[in-house]
Amino acid sequence: MERKRLGVGFIGAGFIGNFHIRSWVGVRDADILGIVDKHPERAEEAAALVRRMRLGEARTFSTIADMVADPGIDAIWILSPNFTRLEVMEEIVGAVESGRGELIGVTCEKPLGRNAAEARRMLELARKANLLDGYLENQVFSPAVVRGKEILWARGAATAGRPYLARAAEEHSGPHMPWFWEGELQGGGVLNDMMCHSVEEARYMLTPPGAAREVITPVKVTAYTDCLKWQIPHYAKILADNSGGKTDYLNRPAEDFAHSLIEYRGEDGEKLIVETTTSWCYVGAGLRLSLELLGPEYALQINTLDTGLKVFFSREVKGSQGEDLVEKQNAEMGLMPVVGSEETEYGYIDENRHMVRAFLDGKRPEENFSDGVNVTELLMTAYMSAEQERTIAFPPPGLETYVPAVARGEWNPRRGR
Ligand SMILES: NC(=O)c1ccc[n+]([C@@H]2O[C@H](COP(=O)([O-])OP(=O)(O)OC[C@H]3O[C@@H](n4cnc5c(N)ncnc54)[C@H](O)[C@@H]3O)[C@@H](O)[C@H]2O)c1
Repeated sequence: MERKRLGVGFIGAGFIGNFHIRSWVGVRDADILGIVDKHPERAEEAAALVRRMRLGEARTFSTIADMVADPGIDAIWILSPNFTRLEVMEEIVGAVESGRGELIGVTCEKPLGRNAAEARRMLELARKANLLDGYLENQVFSPAVVRGKEILWARGAATAGRPYLARAAEEHSGPHMPWFWEGELQGGGVLNDMMCHSVEEARYMLTPPGAAREVITPVKVTAYTDCLKWQIPHYAKILADNSGGKTDYLNRPAEDFAHSLIEYRGEDGEKLIVETTTSWCYVGAGLRLSLELLGPEYALQINTLDTGLKVFFSREVKGSQGEDLVEKQNAEMGLMPVVGSEETEYGYIDENRHMVRAFLDGKRPEENFSDGVNVTELLMTAYMSAEQERTIAFPPPGLETYVPAVARGEWNPRRGR
């Protein structure tokens, strides 16, 4: 029987869980019916928000297995921290394989794993349980990115030749929760946390519309990482204070700046370049996502802080700190950009619509765990390149078992300086 509506359960009701809930106003044919969070009060608050926004009759469950077992739940969205990926996925798959529950599919936030082995295991588990899989890389669903690609390929590439250079940057002033800063818990620093977006959206822009991702092939990676701001003692102390003394950037930092250059071969053997820059040390109005695509007779540029809407507050306007103007907002005074609908512009609405539609149609989403594996493999190669200070041919030997020094707590650029 054709399924008409999808019942969705969320695992994780933190920062991104709330973003996905707010995005659901633009999602058709699906209701958020369940929430699990390690902190039950967060799950309750999120479920209440879902009901208040009329996005579904959400209720909380105390375990993932109980949520999967609920007959109303058809698909799970994994929105918990990176270090919980495998335990969460194993519990989902365990509940399906034991016959406790039935699911159509599962989606997972970026990154799919902290390293290549974890990402591959996520894909294996989805296949083992016969689940459709969606990789939540919101930026390839961002309307500016999607529309920009469509126009550039239809007009520019069609007459002047394909694009050859994609440049992407993701920058903000640093993550909101202590676990992101810990190499072991998160998988790395800003390279793992934010370059996953840049690498994937740049790859997306360089791939001809409608073509399979294998059409362009990565051949080598050159990367650089450093810790520019957060090892300065004053800033290292802020991180230590925010984590009850756990985060120790003087001795166990993660990179707050990363750059990479990935060389691809195009469908006709031509050279294509992806250049990415990411940082946790950009103090501007807020989160800045920028993208450029260059071809022989054309160019495209996107910068999420070049907003149509700007507000100005004089020094007489004194208010509390917030993120009501833009994600990772750094000030409340002066001339400031406002992103009108972050859920729309960063791509969450179209991402979730796509995942729901694919699951209801019984099809694998266009952005799936195989893409999550590819992204992780490129990021791990970038870490290898930065550690060895040389260009690395892709795929390098040992990729499957490689764990970056930063994720082992063994990286410190100040050592030996
Ligand atoms: N697409 C994006 O731009 C974007 C932005 C932010 C975060 N993320 C990703 O989303 C994920 C979550 O990040 P966040 O910012 O929401 O983190 P967060 O710390 O704000 O929230 C995580 C939530 O998960 C809960 N949790 C922890 N362990 C759990 C478990 N085992 N089972 C169920 N719940 C558990 C926590 O209690 C918390 O409420 C990360 O993987 C992150 O990389 C993606």
